[in-house]
Amino acid sequence: MSTSLLPSRAVPVESDNQEFLREAAFGLLQPQKTLPCKYLYDDQGSQWFNQICDLDEYYPTRTESAILRDNIREIAEVVGPECRLVEFGSGTSTKTRLLLEHLEDLVSYTPIDISSAQLFDSCEKLERDFPALEILPMAADYTDPLELPFLGTPIQKVVAFFPGSTIGNFRPYEAVSFLRRVARLCGRGGGLLVGVDLTKDRRLLEAAYNDREGVTAEFNLNILARANRELGSDFDLGSFRHQAIYDEVLGRIEMRLVSLRPQVVRLANREFFFGEDEYVTTEYSYKYSLQKFDTLARRAGFEVLNVWVDSNKWFSVQYLGVRSDVAVNG
Ligand code: AVI
Repeated sequence: MSTSLLPSRAVPVESDNQEFLREAAFGLLQPQKTLPCKYLYDDQGSQWFNQICDLDEYYPTRTESAILRDNIREIAEVVGPECRLVEFGSGTSTKTRLLLEHLEDLVSYTPIDISSAQLFDSCEKLERDFPALEILPMAADYTDPLELPFLGTPIQKVVAFFPGSTIGNFRPYEAVSFLRRVARLCGRGGGLLVGVDLTKDRRLLEAAYNDREGVTAEFNLNILARANRELGSDFDLGSFRHQAIYDEVLGRIEMRLVSLRPQVVRLANREFFFGEDEYVTTEYSYKYSLQKFDTLARRAGFEVLNVWVDSNKWFSVQYLGVRSDVAVNG
């Protein structure tokens, strides 16, 4: 038996954390234990992630930045003038600065991020550097249905920006339903500028998610530390190790926390048993071929209009247009 109920243990969980508690308990009750990857990104996790982006082995950030830098004029031309820019998971908005500098007569920028500390900190800096730009931040989980803040100024189109290949952290069917909502949010004439990581040699991929300094391991283990802090669980961090493996058939990196010994973890009023070497999956990171991503984008109501890649073909930045047959507004 892998779980049991402990009726007498009352754990104070703040009402804000009820959803985390429900989702964590649900995931740990599955035959293959999982924890939803969005809980990797509290303020501490976001700081670890920022460090990952600077690692030698982690090619996506610098490769995507170079693609954006090398093609920014063409990108700005494709996006066109007087748009409203919306960014999902904006973090420090580092890559966005290039767009803010080059998009012609940009009307407004709405960064959306779940980590409010990081969001407001980066907005303060952006306001200083782009004083004429209207910035309307939203502290929200962008996977929830969203309504954008009201804009008084007319615009040509809504363009979403989703860099970093975060689209790869959704399972393909989840990516399709998320992109469908993005297409509806952008509406007629709108578009999406998205970073998509490409399939490549397993050694490069596994090195990127198992860095020598152990930063990705800290990032991964933080989800257990966060559960202990916010949900009152008693994960022993020293009894789990980070692992990331590439599944060539499914085309995805799977990030795990592997139990080093048989152990029992308490969460709320339940006990969860982990056998030695049993693991909890914490994140998938899908890698796509251009063909596969094109099919996925089509199913979501977009068409791929432009693709920019680096010389190694490791990463792509793509501009997708909302197909006229699926646009619901405008
Ligand atoms: C945010 N996301 C695109 C990263 C990725 O590469 O899938 C998250 C990450 N996990 C471990 N390293 C980076």
